[in-house]
Amino acid sequence: MATILDGKALAKKVKEEVKKEAASLERVPGLAVIIVGNNPASRVYVNSKRRDCEECGFLSEEFALPEETTEAELIDLIQTLNGRADIDGILCQLPLPDGINEEAVLMAIDPEKDVDGFHPMNMGALLIGKDGFLPCTPYGVMQILDEYGIDPKGKHCVVVGRSNIVGKPQSILLLQRHGTVTICHSRTPNLGEVCRTADILVAAVGKVNIITADMIKPGAVVIDVAMNHNDEGKLCGDVDYAKAKDVASAITPVPGGVGPMTRAMLMKNTLLSAQKRQG
Ligand code: GUN
Repeated sequence: MATILDGKALAKKVKEEVKKEAASLERVPGLAVIIVGNNPASRVYVNSKRRDCEECGFLSEEFALPEETTEAELIDLIQTLNGRADIDGILCQLPLPDGINEEAVLMAIDPEKDVDGFHPMNMGALLIGKDGFLPCTPYGVMQILDEYGIDPKGKHCVVVGRSNIVGKPQSILLLQRHGTVTICHSRTPNLGEVCRTADILVAAVGKVNIITADMIKPGAVVIDVAMNHNDEGKLCGDVDYAKAKDVASAITPVPGGVGPMTRAMLMKNTLLSAQKRQG
């Protein structure tokens, strides 16, 4: 039976530390969250971000814009927020409605307030190993590994998924920690075979049970980043958790694994931004 990597408990610890540090600042950290349209999943995420801000003692301001909002209006709002001294972080919840160019919107956010770490400037900084905001999910995964003393150095790390938000930055972070990294995706023909060579397996596809127990090397560490809903509507990840936990040495549950850490690292990034801005 694997060690359960308790992201929920670690997230609580991270948020308590963030709250303590925020309290020592002259001005509380401020996070602006923009949501456009009526995506129900986005609504849930945005609500939980507001709660996280309350828990950490942050100023939180939400901008709920209608579905018909134009790209120009959205960028206008972002530019206003870029100029506000009480706002340290700006997050525009994705996905955006059709007709709005996501890249143009993300580019409009001041990289110094891009607490999601999605701006090309921060992505580029990550790639070349310079300081910048790290995307919250891969950052949270690294915190989980550190908390449990799992060192990627010298390990074969297989990342399944190549999104800009998770797969790509996760691979770079593992590489920076001296892991030997393989990136797989939907067109990798021998996915099972590659996964079976992983000492650390990160699943970030978004497909229920794409990682079955036979794809896991006995004793491997399994990190499940996905947030899917199964046929019964229950939240689950990419990994067949019930069987995988008997093969892996350590595994993140869904829910209660990576998800809470993503949220905690957003608070951490907002704190870091406020600390920088206040010298
Ligand atoms: N949509 C899904 N995950 C995220 C995230 O981490 N940040 C933003 N802005 N949108 C998302």
